[in-house]
Amino acid sequence: MIRVGVAGAAGRVGTAVCEAVDAADDMKLAGRADPALGVALGDILGDCDVVVDFTTPDTALENARACVRAGVHAVVGTTGWDPTPLREERGANVFVAPNFAIGAVLMMRFAAEASKYMAKAEIIELHHDRKVDAPSGTAARTAELMDGEVPIHSVRLPGLVAHQEVILGDVGQTLTIRHDSTDRTSFMPGVLLAIRRVGDLPESPVIGLEHLL
Ligand SMILES: NC(=O)c1ccc[n+]([C@@H]2O[C@H](COP(=O)([O-])OP(=O)(O)OC[C@H]3O[C@@H](n4cnc5c(N)ncnc54)[C@H](O)[C@@H]3O)[C@@H](O)[C@H]2O)c1
Repeated sequence: MIRVGVAGAAGRVGTAVCEAVDAADDMKLAGRADPALGVALGDILGDCDVVVDFTTPDTALENARACVRAGVHAVVGTTGWDPTPLREERGANVFVAPNFAIGAVLMMRFAAEASKYMAKAEIIELHHDRKVDAPSGTAARTAELMDGEVPIHSVRLPGLVAHQEVILGDVGQTLTIRHDSTDRTSFMPGVLLAIRRVGDLPESPVIGLEHLL
């Protein structure tokens, strides 16, 4: 049994992670940390093999560091922060993914491939209006993987979950690659896969679900 703690357990994604871990035969939900629940990450670390973090951009680095220093592996879905300083940390592994949905990972791969052959591209990313960072981590990562300069446009509206369109243009034609997460359960198979694999990573941090597929 993998003992899993969740940081951001009262949040939109954290709640879905708690349910998914609870339902997995090989995992035990060992702790739920969130200021909204009055439980600090430090209070649950001793009970965990792996912590899953879906919190905020300003807490993700500090949380991942605390996990590694306690010998607990971390799976981080929080976006809008820089994991580079984690290269200096030893003691446990960190896995970070800007998007845990398989369709989004494929969208990024296809967009990177298409950008080698078409003249220009732009990204439109659309999210619910409570998202705190812009552009989204997925859009930033997509642009990084693509050839050339790729401008990003961010839309924040109620009614949306997580959506992205990559539009490529060339003489007399366009190609549009679109992914939609219509429910947060779309992220859960990827999160469970990362929980099972984070202990065996060859290096740390590893960034991107494509490295586990
Ligand atoms: N990688 C992915 O696939 C993916 C998918 C969806 C969302 N996200 C990202 O996940 C993050 C969370 O999104 P959300 O919609 O669930 O946000 P949310 O605001 O609903 O939840 C965040 C929770 O974190 C809690 N929190 C704040 N500081 C904390 C700390 N120090 N320790 C523990 N908990 C703390 C908050 O109280 C809140 O309950 C965002 O950065 C979002 O962009 C990533």
